[in-house]
Amino acid sequence: MQTPWDHRFAQRTQRMGSSVIRELLKLTEQPDIISFAGGLPAPDVFPIEEIREACNRVLDNIGQYALQYGTTEGYLPLRELIMRHSARYGINVKPDNILITSGSQQALDLLGKILINPGDRILVESPTYLGALQAWSAYGAEYVTVPMDEFGMVTDNLEEALRSGPKFIYVLPNFQNPTGVTLSADRRQKLVELADRYGVPIVEDDPYGQLRYEGEHLPPIVLMDKEYREASDSAYAGNVIYLSTFSKILSPGIRLAWVVAPPIVIRKLVQAKQGADLHTSTFNQIMVYEVAKGGFLDKHIKLIRDVYGERRDAMLGAMDAYFPPGVEWTHPEGGLFLWGVLPENLSAAEVLKSAIEQKVAFVPGEPFYPTGGGHNTMRLNFSNATPDKIREGISRMGKAIYEKLGEPVAL
Ligand SMILES: Cc1ncc(COP(=O)(O)O)c(C=O)c1O
Repeated sequence: MQTPWDHRFAQRTQRMGSSVIRELLKLTEQPDIISFAGGLPAPDVFPIEEIREACNRVLDNIGQYALQYGTTEGYLPLRELIMRHSARYGINVKPDNILITSGSQQALDLLGKILINPGDRILVESPTYLGALQAWSAYGAEYVTVPMDEFGMVTDNLEEALRSGPKFIYVLPNFQNPTGVTLSADRRQKLVELADRYGVPIVEDDPYGQLRYEGEHLPPIVLMDKEYREASDSAYAGNVIYLSTFSKILSPGIRLAWVVAPPIVIRKLVQAKQGADLHTSTFNQIMVYEVAKGGFLDKHIKLIRDVYGERRDAMLGAMDAYFPPGVEWTHPEGGLFLWGVLPENLSAAEVLKSAIEQKVAFVPGEPFYPTGGGHNTMRLNFSNATPDKIREGISRMGKAIYEKLGEPVAL
């Protein structure tokens, strides 16, 4: 239906449309549905008591400061804490390398604001994180894609994509959203070298890196880049912009994340952030600093790993038991998601319709492919539901897939 507002909206809003899949997913909000669709952390591991105590301490000790406006760059003690945390992973930065943002989603948006002119190409993995596509499409981004396999971005195809002159490369090296796949060490190295050779910066989005349930930690790309260019240890000034967040290790509702970048990039991001929200909530920054400063996060992350690792295993085990032959899926070493591939002749959106009738939901994979494809793929979240619910939900999904295959359910 036409409204008087239609011609008033800016052109960029034309690329913000809602999708058929999003409409379908609204149905999954019914309370009796087991949903693997969202990217939600488990509410049962939110550290409510620690946060309550930290809030009280902040109000008692520095309430007047915590309720006031703050600097755009972020609360200095929190940035220093992030500095120390980054140093543990070998990334030596100074406070002027760090900007606190209102979630990594804001960092993605601000990067779009400072880097993307309409028509600029962004090099992304295919599939990639939908939230980044949403943020950057509004700035007129076009996408050049590099396919993924079980070792992450297929770097053998990278050079060809780099020849199209992308503005930057967006990569999710650890337990990627949506596939759950981890970029291998060799490919990380190759990515760093090729990006340097072609003079294209890398945006490394790493919300899940600490949530590893098996295997060895791999060095972040930001560190490999530093080693590659033999940069001095004094302050980070390399080719990689690194993003991480408190959303998956503490709480997504507090909307707190950080960017590590060369100071010149941070200064530009600060200007962009001023126009967006002046600064991230002062109270939340100080509260999180209070929660984190005594080493609580390490203990808490261990708990999250135990809980999510068990849920991942429950999902993988149930898929083995209930999914028909011909369906394949990834085995994520960490993170929140795994990725399923249905037989070529099945559409994941069609399977979702039967799944919703069976009271279970997932996200069809197609929207994660910026240049098309993936009609038979699906993303499943394993962090939010309990193991029992996961087993029940996967058994219902198995039925929905058998139904679409036109085959009787195997017992
Ligand atoms: C890859 C990736 N980047 C960014 C975000 C946004 O995180 P935040 O809650 O910090 O905004 C998410 C959230 O799921 C994500 O998966």
